[in-house]
Amino acid sequence: MSTEPRLNNCRLVLFPLPFQGHINPMLQLANILNTKGFKITIIHTHFNSPNQSNYPQFTFKSISDGSSESKNMNLNLDTPDSIINFMNKSCINPLRDCLVTLQEEKPVTCLISDALWHFSQSVADSLNLPRIVLRTSSMSCILVYSALLPHIKNCYLKTTIEEEDPIPDLSLITEKDMLKIFNDDRKEGELELIFSMIKTIKAASGIIWNTFKELEEPAFCAITQNLCIPSFPLGPFHKYFPASSSSLLEQDRSVMLWLDLQPVRSVVYVSFGSITQMGKAEFSNMARGLAKSKQRFLWVVRPGSVSGSEWLQSLPKGFIEEVGERGCIVKWAPQQEVLAHPAIGGFWTHNGWNSTLESICEGVPMICSPCSYDQPINARYVTDVWRVGVMLDNGKEEEIGRVMKSVIMEEEGSEIRQRSNYLQEKVNRSMEKGGSAYESLENLVDFIVSL
Ligand code: UDX
Repeated sequence: MSTEPRLNNCRLVLFPLPFQGHINPMLQLANILNTKGFKITIIHTHFNSPNQSNYPQFTFKSISDGSSESKNMNLNLDTPDSIINFMNKSCINPLRDCLVTLQEEKPVTCLISDALWHFSQSVADSLNLPRIVLRTSSMSCILVYSALLPHIKNCYLKTTIEEEDPIPDLSLITEKDMLKIFNDDRKEGELELIFSMIKTIKAASGIIWNTFKELEEPAFCAITQNLCIPSFPLGPFHKYFPASSSSLLEQDRSVMLWLDLQPVRSVVYVSFGSITQMGKAEFSNMARGLAKSKQRFLWVVRPGSVSGSEWLQSLPKGFIEEVGERGCIVKWAPQQEVLAHPAIGGFWTHNGWNSTLESICEGVPMICSPCSYDQPINARYVTDVWRVGVMLDNGKEEEIGRVMKSVIMEEEGSEIRQRSNYLQEKVNRSMEKGGSAYESLENLVDFIVSL
C-alpha cells in the first residue's frame, strides 16, 4: 500500500447503489482507492447490504432506507427503478445525518456516490462536501440517453412502430431498442431517474467511469467537451480487483471442475445477470434452443428469475436427460473466473455493463440478448461498433442453435474472436504504466487530494 503522506488524512465516503451490478464496481473502486492510500468508509442501505466480513480494511455505516416502512404503505416496489426512485427520497435525511456524524468524528475529503443516487448531490451541497459520481455503465450510454430523451415522446405517440427503423440522428439505435430501454410499464419511473441523474452529474465535482478510453474514444471526446467536470475512465475495475468478494449470492465453484473436463473453446456460458426476469415461455424456449444446438453450455439460472418458478420447474420435460453431460446448470457462478477459463468459447449475455466488460477483457465473443435499461445500447456497441458479438433477439429455438454454432465453430466466430483478442490487448495496454487508464487513476488521486 502507498504510504504517501499527502493521503494520510484523506477519508473518502463511498455510497453504492444496492444492486449487484452497482455494488461490484463501487467496492472494487473502494479497493483501488484504498490501495492508493485513502481511508475508506462505505455507507450502505439495509436493503442488499454488502458482506462486510470480506472488507476488514473499510469502515461500514448502515443507513435506514425506508424499505420496511414501504411495506406498510402498500407501495409497489417491484422493479429496480421503482426501488431506486423510492430510496432517492427515503434516504435523504439518513444520508445527511450519517455524513454529519462522520464529519464530526473526522473530516471527510469527499463523497463518491453512484450516479443514480441523484439526491446525494443536494445532501453533499448542504454540507459543503465535494461529490464525485461513479457511473457504472459506459460513456456511450450517457450520450445515447441524452440524445434519446427528446425522441421518446414521439415514439410513444406512434400507433404502429416500425421496429427496426433507426431513431433519427442516432442511426445505431433502433425504435425496438428504445422500447426495451424505456419499457412502457416503467417508462415514467425510468425517465425520472435518467433526467435527474444527468442533471446532477453536471453539478458534481467529477465523474469516474468503469471503462477505458480506447474502447470509447468518440464518447470520451464528446463527454470531455460537453461536460464541464473532469472525467476519469479508470479501465475495467475488475482488472484491479475481482468482484467475487462483493457477490450477494453464493458462487457455485463446482463449475470450475466441470469446465476443466470440457475441450478448449467448446462451451457457451449463459447468464443474464442479477436482476433480469423472464416468463416461463421465454425460459423454456431458451432451454429448447440450448438442447437443439447440440453445443456444450454452462447456464446460470438465478433462483426467482423465471416468473412463477422457484428455480428449474419450468424446464421442458426431458430436457435434463436430452442434454446429459453436455450441459451444466447452476444458481450463480464465479463469472469472471468462468469467462477466463480456456473451455469458454462464447457468452450468451443480457449485456449488463459489467458482464460486457468482463467478456471483453477475456476476449470472449458475445451472443447478445439485451433486455432493458442500458443493455440494448451496450449490445449495439458490441455487435455494430466493436463487432465482438452477434445479436440474438427473441430467437426461436432453431435460431438459438444456429447462432451458438456460428460463434463456437464457424468462420464468423473466428473473425469475432480475432477482434475480441485485439480489444483484450487494448485493455491490457491501457492499464499498464503510461496507458490511459493508469494515467487516469493517477490524475484522480491528484484531483481528490486537491479538493
Ligand atoms: C445491472 C443492470 O441490469 C445492467 O444493465 C447495468 O449495466 C448494471 O446494473 P446486472 O443486470 O446484474 O446489472 O448485470 P451486470 O452489469 O452484468 O452485473 C452482473 C454482475 O454479477 C457481474 O459483475 C457478474 O460477474 C456477476 N455475476 C453474474 C456473478 O458473479 N455470477 C453470476 O452467476 C452472474
